[in-house]
Amino acid sequence: MTETLSQTAPWQALAAHAAETADASILAMFDADPGRLARLTVDVAGLHFDFAKLRADTRTIELLEALARAGDLDGWKRRLLAGEVVNASERRAATHAAERSAAADHAPMRALVEAVRAGAHGDIRHVLHIGIGGSALGPALLLDALGRHGDGPEVAVVANIDGVALAEACARFDPAHTMVVIVSKTFTTIETMTNSEGAIAWLRAGGVGDPVARCVAVTAAPAKAAAFGIADDRILPFAESVGGRYSLWSAVGLPFALRSAWPAFQALLDGAAAMDAHFATTPLVRNAPALAAAMDVWHATFLGAETRAVFAYDERLRLIPPYLQQLEMESNGKRVTRKGAPVDWATAPITWGGTGTDAQHAVFQLLHQGTHLVPVEFLAVVEPGHALGGSYHRQLLTNCFAQAAALLRGRSYDEALALSGGDAALAHAKTFPGNRPSSTILLGRLDASTLGALLAFYEHRTFAAATLLGINPFDQWGVELGKEMAKAMDGGVPASFDPSTVDLLRRAL
Ligand code: F6P
Repeated sequence: MTETLSQTAPWQALAAHAAETADASILAMFDADPGRLARLTVDVAGLHFDFAKLRADTRTIELLEALARAGDLDGWKRRLLAGEVVNASERRAATHAAERSAAADHAPMRALVEAVRAGAHGDIRHVLHIGIGGSALGPALLLDALGRHGDGPEVAVVANIDGVALAEACARFDPAHTMVVIVSKTFTTIETMTNSEGAIAWLRAGGVGDPVARCVAVTAAPAKAAAFGIADDRILPFAESVGGRYSLWSAVGLPFALRSAWPAFQALLDGAAAMDAHFATTPLVRNAPALAAAMDVWHATFLGAETRAVFAYDERLRLIPPYLQQLEMESNGKRVTRKGAPVDWATAPITWGGTGTDAQHAVFQLLHQGTHLVPVEFLAVVEPGHALGGSYHRQLLTNCFAQAAALLRGRSYDEALALSGGDAALAHAKTFPGNRPSSTILLGRLDASTLGALLAFYEHRTFAAATLLGINPFDQWGVELGKEMAKAMDGGVPASFDPSTVDLLRRAL
């Protein structure tokens, strides 16, 4: 029988180390190691990564390095970036990084962007971006983070098959001045096809004579877009090897480029390329995505953290949590290895999060005093995104850093007792165990380049974590069964479903 990953020496050493150090004090690690902060912080592409408040000591990092060597992280990185097959179940390469390389051909997309912005397609003031999953989350994040002050058409991203989403977007827009961008890798996704038909019907009802001529398709299935009626010169293809959740660097980013102009999109690609170069060549201990991935695997798989929480202390980054949820959970929420063998270890944690400081007044209670181990990631930007001045930004940042410091330090029972007038029960309620791990990512400023670097960091971190876990991050078979069942239900109420489902169908349809 072949040895599974969890039986290898590096894995066993990490498991033993976890058992020995599960309660190790992070503050004591700082005391024992004056070089800790320098070793666990990395600066790259305008981003500062601080992993020093995570629950890992020097030995942990050495053992994680050994795990990465055993899992051939360097080889997988090389194969990924060389365009070799890394997605075994779909027998494909994963070429999202190539989209931001100097060799990428974005000329047709750029020409369209410049033509629309110059008025060559009429007076386009509004863009309906129709897509879902990776064909929506990345583009929506770009628009929300960077497109607020863009001088191009206003964009609405419509994803859900709930008609409320499309109806609300249409209500804001004028059909005479709207372009529809249909984004679907497969050009078969039911939500996107239904919303596209809905948008075309809305254009027609609004007096547009040839509504399909107002549509642009972005897809890896150009023949399907052509069959839908879209003219060849309005189809922007991208490669089959670019995964949906990794696709914002391709023509999928079109609406953002329309809104913010080509130089912004190019800066996004360049920032990501800087992170690619860092990831490709830097040893794990100084490599931001690889080190973050190793820490993720350590906390989730070896220390048993079932979730990880991400809080953006910047309104412009409020869509980072849903974007990351797809990236991390669709990529690494797997139960078999690359070769299809069942895993007997925990794979991706559940990613969740929100915006600071809002989340402090809602979910941070559990983070400080609840019973779960939750590694927290804080995301902040030094330069404010507004010109209000005053104490706004200072308060935002001090809150962010204070939460991380409080999670780490906690408050002892004795300190709590002194604050509780000797009331023991109250003192217990006011005690914070502390020693709760967190990391912080600090951007000097938020612009297209730093956002590109940040998103490329997240992609590579996800890939590196998958490599350490022995799984394929580039397929997503788990989304299929529900789609098939929905299709089966559409034709009636199949008796083959369980009684509860049959009852619900009968009640609602
Ligand atoms: O159902 C999951 C999924 O396939 C995602 O992986 C993808 O991003 C999304 O649906 C949309 O797919 P498409 O771009 O083909 O419409």
